Amino acid sequence: MVRRNTSFVPEKSFIADCLQNPKFHLCKGDVTDPYSLERLMEQIHPHEFYNCAAQSHVHESWEYPIATVDATAKGVLHCLEVIRKVVPACRFVQFSSSELFGMAKECPQNENTPFYPRSPYGVSKLFGHWMTVNYRESYDLFACNAILFNMESPRRGPAFVTQKIAQGVARIVTQLELGEQPTPLVLGNLDARRDWNDARRSIRTVVKMLEQNEPEDYVIGSGRTHSVREFVLAAFDTAQIDPSKYGGLVMIDPQFKRPAEVPLLCADPRKAMKELGYEPHNQAFELIVAEMVEAAMRNHDCGLLRP
Ligand code: GDD
Repeated sequence: MVRRNTSFVPEKSFIADCLQNPKFHLCKGDVTDPYSLERLMEQIHPHEFYNCAAQSHVHESWEYPIATVDATAKGVLHCLEVIRKVVPACRFVQFSSSELFGMAKECPQNENTPFYPRSPYGVSKLFGHWMTVNYRESYDLFACNAILFNMESPRRGPAFVTQKIAQGVARIVTQLELGEQPTPLVLGNLDARRDWNDARRSIRTVVKMLEQNEPEDYVIGSGRTHSVREFVLAAFDTAQIDPSKYGGLVMIDPQFKRPAEVPLLCADPRKAMKELGYEPHNQAFELIVAEMVEAAMRNHDCGLLRP
């Protein structure tokens, strides 16, 4: 399901390749408009419902707290209500977030770690999380939360730090190849640590959650944590650039720092490993950095990757 949007052209978007699959159909709908959901549920009668919809950019949630609450918090309630009324046997999974842990009380974080969200986004996700638990307990719905740590792939949007770094490094490679002055990578807090996981591996595990006998909540992440600084260095390494040789390739701008930061996230995914057969990749970070930078370099047509 995609939102009504005057400029989004699916054939030219990051899901263009999915459209080739005859089993893939795009429907229009919006979690902030419960009537659109109701119409769709009455037409389709789905067996499973994956709610990934959100205003998902943490920093933007301070700029647009109300819009964030509408999509990221109330949107979940609209989904649950329409399932309860129209398709109560439908299995529902809410894409909950490691941002719930925020100023985490312990490390690594598991299903029992107390929540301490640090942004309008995190607080909105907390509402969606507890609403999902409440509808499961109140109405006996098959409704569960996947508490997902950062999911990465070359499809990541350009405003998230991983893709911003990958595309910035690819741009610098091109500029150096052309003999131009490289434009620096301008970032915020380099010390924040995240559990960056491969999106495909995470999603395969979410699918398994809906195949269980009972609806339960699971933490899904790699179990390893790295700083933004480490991501930057690994990205330059993939592109075979030594940033210390140039100087000024990375700059800090306070506008990219957050009013309240989440300093450290790291998953303890043992429940998912035991019950869902989830196997975190022990090189998840290295593989993601390499894949994202190489994809960005292909898009920039950088010489280093040409055969
Ligand atoms: N976006 C961004 N841009 N982040 C920066 C920058 C910058 O220029 N410089 C440093 N950072 C730091 C942020 O302060 C944060 O600590 C970290 O990089 C990661 O930021 P994002 O990539 O924007 O992701 P996120 O961790 O805030 O949120 C993502 O993961 C959550 C799951 O843990 C999003 O996908 C959320 O929707 C998701 O719930």
